[in-house]
Amino acid sequence: MRLGIKRIFFFILMLFVWAWTAEFVFAEAEEEIIGDPKAGDKLMVEMDCRQCHTIQGSGGKVGPDLTQVRLRRSKEHLVRWLEDPTLFRPSSGMPGFPWKSEQEIYDIIAYLDTIKRPVNREEILKEKDLIKAGEGLVKAYDCRACHKIGKGGINIYPDLTRIGQKLRPEWDKKFLKNPQDWNRFTFMPNFNLSDEEIEAIVAYFMSLK
Ligand code: HEC
Ligand code: HEC
Repeated sequence: MRLGIKRIFFFILMLFVWAWTAEFVFAEAEEEIIGDPKAGDKLMVEMDCRQCHTIQGSGGKVGPDLTQVRLRRSKEHLVRWLEDPTLFRPSSGMPGFPWKSEQEIYDIIAYLDTIKRPVNREEILKEKDLIKAGEGLVKAYDCRACHKIGKGGINIYPDLTRIGQKLRPEWDKKFLKNPQDWNRFTFMPNFNLSDEEIEAIVAYFMSLK
């Protein structure tokens, strides 16, 4: 009987030792690839991403402006997107690229990290006029990366120029809180907007008629 208990203890001890070493081994294997922004910038020039995308004011309008893309898409999302856009959207106008290595994808994302301009929500929401605050937020988040709103924007997703004419504020607030609640597969990103930000943006949209 005493021997049995000792065996069980020994077994449990070995289990801990195994778990402890395994943690190190797997942590090593899963180590994050560190992207090099300079290499990413160079790659994007070589691969001519600007043929279709505007970046910091220059480039085409076939796809979304990428200047603020890191505000709206996580790194994990972008890795999967760049690996193969058609896995997400079979009808995507974005081609898959023959990457030489995973490293290239991380380099590009590292470059996109360096160009984003963070949004200072508090500062913009200090504006007393809700419509103006909303306009400021739409600009800062760069909703025109995908939407035509008056002047500027691209033409492949809904045009919001006159959205005030058809807007149902309650629907819109829910939609902006999390577009994926409405449709899991929608390409409209979740910006993690606060309720105050949503109030302001919807007020601005209501004024667009
Ligand atoms: C032939 C045109 C074309 C080229 C070239 C192209 N893209 Fe795209 N890209 C698109 C289109 C169109 C979309 C939108 C896809 C959709 O709606 O399904 C897109 C979407 C994206 C997105 C997602 C944007 C977002 O807001 O979610 C990223 C990131 C992106 N492209 C990066 C790149 C990079 C990096 C390159 C160069 C290596 C590149 N693209 C080259 C057309 C292109
Ligand atoms: C990466 C591209 C992209 C960006 C950036 C983007 N949207 Fe959208 N948005 C979409 C797409 C795609 C739809 C259409 C949704 C669908 O049908 O799946 C949409 C739909 C909408 C709609 C509903 C319009 C309608 O007529 O049904 C509103 C409102 C909206 N977006 C607001 C915004 C706001 C506000 C921002 C900025 C904070 C923004 N979007 C940024 C892609 C984008």
